[in-house]
Amino acid sequence: MSSSSYLDSQKERFLNELLDLLRIPSVSADPAYQKDVVRMAEATAEHLRKAGARNVEILETPGFPVVYGDYFVDAALPTVLVYGHYDVQPPDPIELWTSGPFEPVVKKTELHPEGAVFARGACDDKGQFFMHVKALEVLIHEGGVPCNLKFMIEGEEEVGSAHLAWFLEQNKTKLSCDLILISDTGILSNDQPSICTGLRGLSYVEVSVTGPNRDLHSGLYGGAVPNPINVLTRMIASLHDADGRIAVAGFYDKVVELSAEERAEMAKAPHSDEAYKKALDLKGLEGEKGYSTPERASIRPTLDVNGIWGGYTGEGAKTVIPSKAFAKISMRLVPDQDPDEITELFSRHFRSIAPESVTVEVHPHHGGRAYVSPIDTLGYQAASEAMEATFGKKPIPVRSGGSIPIVALFERELGAKSILFGFGLDSDAIHSPNEHYGLFNYYKGTETIPIFYRRFAALSARH
Ligand code: BES
Ligand code: MN
Ligand code: MN
Repeated sequence: MSSSSYLDSQKERFLNELLDLLRIPSVSADPAYQKDVVRMAEATAEHLRKAGARNVEILETPGFPVVYGDYFVDAALPTVLVYGHYDVQPPDPIELWTSGPFEPVVKKTELHPEGAVFARGACDDKGQFFMHVKALEVLIHEGGVPCNLKFMIEGEEEVGSAHLAWFLEQNKTKLSCDLILISDTGILSNDQPSICTGLRGLSYVEVSVTGPNRDLHSGLYGGAVPNPINVLTRMIASLHDADGRIAVAGFYDKVVELSAEERAEMAKAPHSDEAYKKALDLKGLEGEKGYSTPERASIRPTLDVNGIWGGYTGEGAKTVIPSKAFAKISMRLVPDQDPDEITELFSRHFRSIAPESVTVEVHPHHGGRAYVSPIDTLGYQAASEAMEATFGKKPIPVRSGGSIPIVALFERELGAKSILFGFGLDSDAIHSPNEHYGLFNYYKGTETIPIFYRRFAALSARH
């Protein structure tokens, strides 16, 4: 399949348009950016309209709006729903960025010799959802759109998509489709394409431990009262056993184990522990006994403390026994763990290990189920053929460790499978300082998406 000459002729403009979007600080987690998030929704709608989408609307939710647009060709053709998110993670720690998080610049790196755009959201997910907007424009200029398209770009993914279950229920007909296409994941490397075939689920909780009714002088009271930080850290330390397994009772009950064949298949994907350690400046790795690094980071559930605080953390020393200590804890889940059930199991376990001297509270945050996408579908085949056409190499299926909770909901509410057609790299530093997205990846995705639609329409016609 030949590459797009329209794309080649428009590359510079396509890049500049992305840079403009990256200047909008659409941080959904921080109310200080609320107006910018709304402005980003408007800019997204405008771009969809300009690319040629019809029925473009900004659909309100109790939170940030969903941008919708479509391109109807023929009722006899299949319909693909493109999902993405226009919100981004907070940029902090800002001081570790080498250029402003919302002042996008193109810089060359070892992995991106042709340059990469540095900005918050460059890869996750503005650069990736925008490839779909540009792919629509390319198709309209080059012989037409081969199937029906719908676009749904949301603004609350990075805060858990809390209103999307409601939104899907309200808009079932509007969003009805044969397949969902999402570019919000990655490939193994620019020489080895891959298709993401799985996402982990998530259960996120915040815990607090309360000891004395006020902060105390650690000399007058120390040694005689429960110190909530000591207690909390002791409790947290007990959540894993010596084999790296999670000690929450019942936690593994529903975990689907992979067969020896599936694990052997997984082990074929290129991976080096040495390179992995080197990229992270680590002297060693840690994880569940009996599993490889790629397995630990994708097909196995985890429990991680994401933040812990309490007591005095300011300048100098303050001798104090704090009244309270807190932690945020996330559990990545695999099929068939149920996030509500896991949250409940965690709560029960965490309370049960608390000494009587303190009060423990567990507040659940968002959650979502894991997703595994089958590879014997027309959608997967179309994705595989499209990538093979543009990369010159057949992609390998790879299960990822990240989460996009909406994907499991799509299947439940719309009865459709998702193809995770992302083009980022693990090294793109999503959620971290200096997030970037390779120009190679941006253009490759924009080139590959139209081919996906053509292949999907052709394969669907034969079935
Ligand atoms: N795009 C990511 C998820 C992702 C990245 C999956 C790379 C696979 C490969 C998404 O925006 C994200 O960050 N999801 C959150 C979950 C959400 C509920 C905050 C995550 O995985 O932590
Ligand atoms: Mn994302
Ligand atoms: Mn993200």
